Amino acid sequence: MDAGRTGGRGAPAPDLAAPAGATAPSTAPATAPSPPAAPVPLLALRQVSKFFGAVEALVAVDLEVHAHEVVALVGDNGAGKSTAAKVIAGVLTPDAGQVEIDGEPVTVGSPSGAHDLGIATVFQDLALCENLDVTANLFLGREVHQGLLLSEGEMETQTRGTLDALSARIPSVRTPLHQLSAGQRQSVAIARTLIGSPRIVVLDEPTASLSVVQTAEVLTHIERLRDLGLGVIIISHNMNDVRAVADRIVVLRHGRVNGTFDAASASYESIIGAITGASHAAPMA
Ligand SMILES: Nc1ncnc2c1ncn2[C@@H]1O[C@H](COP(=O)(O)OP(=O)(O)OP(=O)(O)O)[C@@H](O)[C@H]1O
Ligand SMILES: [Mg+2]
Repeated sequence: MDAGRTGGRGAPAPDLAAPAGATAPSTAPATAPSPPAAPVPLLALRQVSKFFGAVEALVAVDLEVHAHEVVALVGDNGAGKSTAAKVIAGVLTPDAGQVEIDGEPVTVGSPSGAHDLGIATVFQDLALCENLDVTANLFLGREVHQGLLLSEGEMETQTRGTLDALSARIPSVRTPLHQLSAGQRQSVAIARTLIGSPRIVVLDEPTASLSVVQTAEVLTHIERLRDLGLGVIIISHNMNDVRAVADRIVVLRHGRVNGTFDAASASYESIIGAITGASHAAPMA
């Protein structure tokens, strides 16, 4: 996991490292090196709050995801997970706080604004069209044209390439959605996020109501997204899934961050304790 995050730091590091490297050698002897600069996250929520009337759906939430990193957002029903996903996706506007991309504050504004910022979201209802085939679903609203005509061949090729990149098993890119299993539909929904080359993918309950085999496939897709260098936020109730695929686990409870855990070393009990309120591993408001 650390390797993953270190990999994520690789690209932006040279710019940040240049000034320190330039000044150090000629002056001081080689003493203890200064700690590495904190990597700039691909995406961050800073003190984000969202209220629905008297309901505190999110209260001063801080959340970061880096390139090559899978962050799981977990919590009980009503904890604020989907609200956080919707703020990131531009469906909801936060009442306070900021969304940052590459360390810069941004206004996501709308789902198309999120897309332009490199953020792709798969909501729990998937939002696919049953009567259209796999290729048409991937390119829905973003069709490739050649002159006035749809470039079907190009879209089919890209669809095959995208499904292959995810190691997704779909019989044909021309199969209508209603002939696919729940797991295959989830694969299509995840593949759809890759059209437009996003940098951040948010998945809300991607394994809910999937079989064991389908769940394993979706977890493989998530690993592939990380391999491709994306930052991934996965929302899930399933602790086995979360611990299998996530690098870090952030627990929301009553709209507040109630713990952040290293997935490789955190115990099941400590995560459950943060979810239920038996413990909290991060400063609470
Ligand atoms: N549009 C809305 N209007 C009013 N209240 C809302 C709205 N959306 C969410 N809420 C409330 O905000 C809180 C957080 O909801 P949210 O859907 O983010 O929870 P969640 O963690 O995704 O839960 P679940 O695990 O059940 O999906 C809940 O109390 C919910 O009732
Ligand atoms: Mg939800």
